Amino acid sequence: MIFGLVLAGGIGRRMGKEIPKQYLKIGGKHIIAHTIECFSKNENFDKVIVLTPADWIDYTKDIIESDIEVTGDIVVIEGGELRNDTIMNGIKYIEENYGLDDETLLITHDAVRPFVTKEIIDANIEALKNYSSCDTVVPSTDTIVRSEDGEYIVEVPNRAHLYQGQTPQSFRAKKFKELYTGLSPEEQGILTDAIKVFVLAGEKVGLVDGDTTNIKITYPSDLLIAKSILEGE
Ligand code: CTP
Repeated sequence: MIFGLVLAGGIGRRMGKEIPKQYLKIGGKHIIAHTIECFSKNENFDKVIVLTPADWIDYTKDIIESDIEVTGDIVVIEGGELRNDTIMNGIKYIEENYGLDDETLLITHDAVRPFVTKEIIDANIEALKNYSSCDTVVPSTDTIVRSEDGEYIVEVPNRAHLYQGQTPQSFRAKKFKELYTGLSPEEQGILTDAIKVFVLAGEKVGLVDGDTTNIKITYPSDLLIAKSILEGE
């Protein structure tokens, strides 16, 4: 089975608004509604699971009823404290309701990336035929410098080998559960990125082409960019 996991369990500290950033509106519609729609419209999913803070579950259900044109099979449940805990809550829900096997595929996506395309989602599903996991990326446009102390540069890596990670990040649910539960609480606290769990375990992680418009809304300035992307569509 193929599950879309819309990760909306965060509170958006860096955005600095009174409500979690996924509930801000762009183009008159909640950011999370734009994102859920990208998943609910895609016929490849058996179910879309939206994970939010506990206090926002009912509000999210209302948004889905009133704001979303095409609603496939969608459920809203509680996320977790860390981003990977949110994913684990999704896996627990799937295990309890459908069971887990090697073909339980997860396409996990940030609720605050409302411009993901059908092509990117479908390419993630396709990549799981060849790899145990995959990450959506775009080539790095900025030169990246590495510093260990925040004062001096120790390396300027070759930009040709650098990519910026986006989402979806996709993988087999059973494998993620096995790797993540095998980590100590300290390691879980440091490993905030789901794909890093696979990379550190030596798994082959495939690259999927993302898009420069598949932005993550993090800071207030990203809202301005999001509005212009929406208007340009
Ligand atoms: N996320 C989640 N569960 C968490 C933390 C984050 O589902 N415990 C989700 C966010 O809701 C967001 C995505 O992961 O859609 C990307 O994370 P980020 O941009 O860091 O969101 P926040 O954690 O909300 O933002 P901040 O770090 O500024 O607090």
